Amino acid sequence: MPYNASLKRSSAMKQTMNNFIAHLPLVKTSSKAIVIDAETLQSSKALVARGLDPANIVVINNEEHVIELAKNAGHSKSMVGISTEVLRKLHSRYDCIYLDFCGTPERSQTTGWDPEKDILMAADKLNDSGVLIVTFTTGHIRHGVRKALLIRPDTLTKAHQVQYSETSPMISIILAKTRSCQYLQTLERLYLEMEQQVQKVQPNSKRKRKRQHETERVRVTWKTDDRDDYKEWIGKEFYGTVLKKVKKGYNIKYDDGQIVDNIPCHWITRV
Ligand SMILES: C[S@@+](CC[C@H](N)C(=O)[O-])C[C@H]1O[C@@H](n2cnc3c(N)ncnc32)[C@H](O)[C@@H]1O
Repeated sequence: MPYNASLKRSSAMKQTMNNFIAHLPLVKTSSKAIVIDAETLQSSKALVARGLDPANIVVINNEEHVIELAKNAGHSKSMVGISTEVLRKLHSRYDCIYLDFCGTPERSQTTGWDPEKDILMAADKLNDSGVLIVTFTTGHIRHGVRKALLIRPDTLTKAHQVQYSETSPMISIILAKTRSCQYLQTLERLYLEMEQQVQKVQPNSKRKRKRQHETERVRVTWKTDDRDDYKEWIGKEFYGTVLKKVKKGYNIKYDDGQIVDNIPCHWITRV
């Protein structure tokens, strides 16, 4: 499915993660970074706003026109191609690497994209305390979440993970080259702070209506679902809070932070 960059510009998740990378404690004006960016260049713009030299931000994208836009914006080392090919050619050290993939955590049979190799290569290119963020869609395959979480080199530790649903179920995983629990907690707190900030300013968050339902705790029992992306959820129970009433049911925020829209009323039990 082609990536709709204009639509995603307003995605709360994208904004949160871009704010997060721009506020990372290790990231300073002399830092180097790698980002898989879209034509809107939201991730690289966030880092430039933090004060990074555009020339120190490598943009990766498989489409020529995106890399042209990146080079025009001063990201002169940007490279067109699939990340697995491009990462092989990068030999510097970086404070932040944001691999904002569109695909599942499985190796692609057609494009040569191998997420496991990407993550191993990225881990080797990180400075100590450097941060690697990866985003996958976990729909379309069985056990997508488990597979995404299994790809983690020994040198990196997980600081946070967030599951959410946009056009399909997604997961973002924040990894850091550290063994310091304190540092990992700092990263997690920073992410949650950024998430709150974005929720406050999102114009479509309809704060008034949201507040009416926000405190209602519910259990969702995932019932029959013909959509391939959601089959692994059938029969499972999730706990969370109601965000708002919508035409076909409710939007629910699960306890792990994932937001799922249009849950039918008959799947929901107040707890
Ligand atoms: C999810 S978007 C990036 C969004 C951006 N980080 C933001 O916050 O706005 C991914 C973009 O990179 C391309 N892309 C996805 N996976 C890629 C990969 N493995 N290698 C190269 N390009 C990739 C997609 O075509 C799309 O344009």
